Amino acid sequence: MNFGQRFARLATDAVVRRPSLWRLFRGPLRRTFDKLAPVWDHQRSPDAFAPVQSALDTLDGPPTRVLDVGTGTGSVALLVAERFPAAEVVGVDVSERMLEQARQKARDRVRFEIADAERLPFPDGSFDLVTLGNMIPFFDELARVTAGAGRVLFAFSAGPETPIYVPSDTLRRELAARGFAEFAEFSAGRGTSLLATKR
Ligand SMILES: C[S@@+](CC[C@H](N)C(=O)[O-])C[C@H]1O[C@@H](n2cnc3c(N)ncnc32)[C@H](O)[C@@H]1O
Repeated sequence: MNFGQRFARLATDAVVRRPSLWRLFRGPLRRTFDKLAPVWDHQRSPDAFAPVQSALDTLDGPPTRVLDVGTGTGSVALLVAERFPAAEVVGVDVSERMLEQARQKARDRVRFEIADAERLPFPDGSFDLVTLGNMIPFFDELARVTAGAGRVLFAFSAGPETPIYVPSDTLRRELAARGFAEFAEFSAGRGTSLLATKR
């Protein structure tokens, strides 16, 4: 991993352990992703989101309202929108430059908004699917905005080698503490994903 990737891993580990530390990492990480925005999609391997597809294959019905947190250039949001044409899909990110790229790709199919995952600007239970691709989770907010019987989906494009990576036992423990169950794990290409359902 290069310096920026090691910094992202450090931030992930710290914020997962203690979410209040996000205020220290927010500025540097946002600036990092603003700079990366023009080249972000060129660096992805073609199968980067195969683990997202694998998890979506197992859904028993199409979601109606979907939130992609840390959407970046919008790849996961767009993938979900194309797969579920009737769903309303929203992508949020703290990096305006990343969202500029996302809007160019998605045209009007996905709504992109500046928002911080630490405090999402949506009412409780707003979404029946919440996705995070290579993104630092804020578990309290995830649980709050997910509707009853709704799903959360975490995906890491390079599995444990992804700079922003959270081990599945940590994901399971934090989610179970907030009322999630029915965990399912997938791997495809180099990537992994985990799907959970809110009771
Ligand atoms: C590693 S990139 C992943 C982007 C996209 N999901 C993908 O897989 O291509 C992480 C993204 O999350 C955003 N991000 C990090 N922390 C965030 C937070 N607390 N709230 C919203 N966005 C955040 C960054 O700006 C960046 O665009």
